[in-house]
Formats: sequence, C-alpha cells, structure tokens
Amino acid sequence: MMKSNGAKLSTLLVLYFFSVSTLANVSLASLKIGYYHSSCPHAEAIVRKAVNKAVSRNPGLGAGIVRMLFHDCFVRGCDASILLDSTPGNPAEKEHPANNPSLRGYEVIDEAKIELESVCPQTVSCSDIIAFAARDSAFMLGGIRYSVPAGRRDGRVSIKDEPTAHLPAFTSNARELEENFAKKGLSLDEMVTLSGAHSIGISHCSSLSNRLYSFNSTHPQDPTMDPRLAQQLMKRCPRPSNSGADPIVPLDVVTPNRLDNMYYANLKNYRGLLTSDQTLWTSPATARMVRSNAIHGANWARNFASAMVKMGSIEVMTGMQGEIRKNCRVVN
Ligand code: HEM
Ligand SMILES: *[C@@H]1O[C@H](CO)[C@@H](O)[C@H](O)[C@H]1NC(C)=O
Ligand SMILES: *[C@@H]1O[C@H](CO)[C@@H](O)[C@H](O)[C@H]1NC(C)=O
Repeated sequence: MMKSNGAKLSTLLVLYFFSVSTLANVSLASLKIGYYHSSCPHAEAIVRKAVNKAVSRNPGLGAGIVRMLFHDCFVRGCDASILLDSTPGNPAEKEHPANNPSLRGYEVIDEAKIELESVCPQTVSCSDIIAFAARDSAFMLGGIRYSVPAGRRDGRVSIKDEPTAHLPAFTSNARELEENFAKKGLSLDEMVTLSGAHSIGISHCSSLSNRLYSFNSTHPQDPTMDPRLAQQLMKRCPRPSNSGADPIVPLDVVTPNRLDNMYYANLKNYRGLLTSDQTLWTSPATARMVRSNAIHGANWARNFASAMVKMGSIEVMTGMQGEIRKNCRVVN
C-alpha cells in the first residue's frame, strides 16, 4: 500500500516538474504572435487606432515611436523602461540627452494604455504597446506590414545614465556601430537595415554640427558631406552658440515623411546627415549593403520588418517576470 502510494506520488512529482519546466521554457523562450487573442482580443486594434489618429495629424510622432522601440530595447531590453517618469532621487532614462528633448510619442502610448486599461485591466504590457505602435507607425509611414510577437513584461527600473553605455553615438564609425549592435545580438546587416529608419523624422542641429563647424583643426567641414547640403544646413543650423537654440532639420531631405529606402540613395550622394549615417557608405564593410538597399526597396522593407521584430525581442522579460504596469509612466 505504502509502496504504491509512494510510486503514485513520485509519478505525480515527475509530471509536476515536467510540466513546470515545460511551461517555464515556453514562457521564457518565446514571445507569441496573437498573444492577447483571448485575454484582450482588441488589444492590437486599440493601439492601432491611437497610432493612426496621432500619426495622421503629425507624422513626426510615428518617427518618434519607431525610435522609441530602439531606445527602449537597447537599454535593459524591451521592458518599457523608456516610459517611466523620474521619481524623487531617481532621474529616469527619458532624461538622458539622447532622449530629452528629442524623443517623442509618449502621449500616444499613454492614450492607448488608458483605453486598454478600461477594456482589459492590467493585461497588456507597456512594452508590448511600444512594439505594436512601432509596427503601426512603420505601416502608416512606409506601408511596411508585419506581425509582432508579444508577451513582454514591464520592468521596474529606469536610470538616467544607462543609455550612455548602450545607445550608439551619432559620431560612431561603422566598426563602432557594428560592435554596439552585436552586443544586442544584432548583425552588421541588421544594423545597416535598421538605420534606414533615418528615412523619417528629424534631427536637432546639435547632432550634426560636428560635421559643419568642427570636423578637425584644419577642415571645419566633413569632407564626406556634399558641400551643397553643408551650405543648406549651415543656413538652418547656425554655429553652436551659448544661446541654447537648437533648430531641427529633416533626416531625409528628399522624402522626410516616407519610411522608404531613399535614405540609402542619399548616403550614396553624400547626403546623410549624421556621421553614423554617412559612415555606412564610406566604410567598405557596409557600402555593399547600402548599394543593395538603395536598389532593392522591397527587399529592404522585408528585412526592416524582420529586424524590427528581432530588435523587439532583445532581453525581454516574460512569464512571471516583471509586471504589467497600470500606468506606463509609473511602476505598480
Ligand atoms: C545606428 C545607430 C544610430 C544612431 C547613432 C542614431 C542617432 C540618432 C540621432 C542623433 C537622431 C536625431 C536626434 C535629434 O537630434 O533630434 C536620430 C533620430 C532618429 N532615429 Fe536614430 N540612430 C541610430 C539608429 C536608429 C535605429 C536602429 C532606429 C529605429 C529602427 C532609429 C530611428 C530614428 C528615428 C525614426 C529618428 C527620428 C526621430 C524623430 O523625428 O522624432 N535610429 N537617431
Ligand atoms: C527547459 O530548459 C532547460 C534549460 O534550458 C532544459 O535543460 C530542458 O531540457 C528544457 N525542457 C524542455 C521540456 O524543453
Ligand atoms: C582634416 O581632415 C582632412 C579631410 O579628411 C584631412 O585631409 C586632414 O589631414 C585632416 N587634418 C587633421 C589635422 O587631422
């Protein structure tokens, strides 16, 4: 009697541990397309509605949200740490100079979250909202269509200084960009593909004045910028002064609100705005990819979609890790 109960118990225990470890692997290993299908069937539609409304009024917000996914995922993984507000004694990521004052679109995420909380309380993570919203922005601005695996959980930590160590600098050369992306599991190819996001949106003059006024001690201007573009930019971007004024210019002067492969054609014409853009054409390791992306727009768009999905899965928390925030700006 004892013996057979013991056998049953151990069978149960084996089954129990087997199922726990299986479940644990599933939740840790993978995000899933249609994750909210039964828990919140309209989740993706609600995000799409908020993005469509905002981006049709101001396409720049779509650019901001595509960039938001990048700045979120490269720092502590895709955990919506970018959305947390500072608290007394803890300035948050959004205060870092790479994000403040330039990163935009926070209100769009808030609007989607408020609607989601009223329909499905504490069900849809802020990190998933960013990933959906970036996809919807890419569709609105570039007609790029893809599915977003979901099931991310939100982090509870956001620290102002952390982006410095994780986001690439706009003065980086191709090798530095490659290393920076490799640390996040992204290839050289994916780095070049994702840089095509600079086909939408704007830059502050402070992110490119190094190329106009202070290239080196003998040449104020970067020789890898088309001199005519440099002339135009110098009119809009006066020499940095202590007045603090920092005007903005479109990143892609040809099709500023269209997420397309024009970025690569611009690079071939030495009309990239940032050092980190133009280096992709002047570096032998990446020039070939620039040439190919400039020609094959549909291939680039397909690769862009895959690379956005991959970037959206960097160091994600799933299962019971982290939390589902009620308000994307504060931890629960
Ligand atoms: C390769 C390394 C990258 C560097 C060094 C870089 C740097 C920058 C800088 C300096 C700006 C201008 C900010 C300002 O002064 O206002 C900018 C804008 C932007 N970046 Fe990047 N970026 C990189 C990659 C990416 C990636 C991977 C994405 C997304 C897939 C992205 C999306 C954008 C977008 C959409 C804008 C325009 C934002 C707006 O108009 O609000 N960037 N980036
Ligand atoms: C779960 O993951 C562990 C550790 O990675 C592995 O040893 C185990 O075989 C996995 N179990 C299943 C059922 O996949
Ligand atoms: C400055 O840049 C120019 C153009 O690349 C180069 O020819 C020159 O040698 C550089 N001068 C110094 C001092 O680095």
